[in-house]
Amino acid sequence: MTVLPGEAAATVDGPPPADPLVLAAAWLPVDGSAPGPTMTLSTIGLDGYPSARTVLLSRFDGQRLHFHTDTRSRKAAELAAVPRASMTIVWPEAARQLVVTGDVAPVTDREARLAYDARTRYLQMLAWVNDADLAGATVELRRERWTAFGEERGDGPLEPPTTWGGYALTPLRMLFWQGATDGPSNRLAYERDADGRWRREAWPG
Ligand SMILES: Cc1cc2nc3c(=O)[nH]c(=O)nc-3n(C[C@H](O)[C@H](O)[C@H](O)COP(=O)(O)O)c2cc1C
Repeated sequence: MTVLPGEAAATVDGPPPADPLVLAAAWLPVDGSAPGPTMTLSTIGLDGYPSARTVLLSRFDGQRLHFHTDTRSRKAAELAAVPRASMTIVWPEAARQLVVTGDVAPVTDREARLAYDARTRYLQMLAWVNDADLAGATVELRRERWTAFGEERGDGPLEPPTTWGGYALTPLRMLFWQGATDGPSNRLAYERDADGRWRREAWPG
């Protein structure tokens, strides 16, 4: 991979930083702010085919990208088998796309708890109610169960269910795409080598 000089023309304002995490910090919501953008989380299916779905970016901590899910989910089983994933985040209004690929590990219980507390009430309830048993039930039954859960718990704070889990992805590759109305789009591709150093290339497309 060719390493570009720091002054090379870039997809971002000014010269590209040597460390893509600096650029990611400019593109992603800062730690502790409201839930981040949605992203396509791609894992490797148990049958070897890609497996993709939308999730919320819970947090970018400056090094890792966090997301949360049900530990009984398909993605949790896939990550247990192969702890690698890609995240694709798009900001159409800013003509930006970020694709991050890397290694995934569970977050600590404390991190998972903080993320649960930061979720809306609706999403907190969803983590309790949305299970496989209910999936095949009628719409009426699903609504009844939802209402019953809400009445049972009242307005008090909810604890996360034991099935609430979080993961954080440590980037190995980061691909920043920037579109433009008055010129071609281009990409900044970063890859981390075995020594932890980031190498950078400009890509078309
Ligand atoms: C906008 C949007 C946001 C979502 N956010 C999450 C999320 O943060 N966590 C999650 O587990 N599922 C989320 N989902 C549901 C997933 O897309 C998916 O249906 C679910 O996690 C089960 O995926 P799996 O069977 O591949 O594990 C979201 C769906 C949409 C459309």
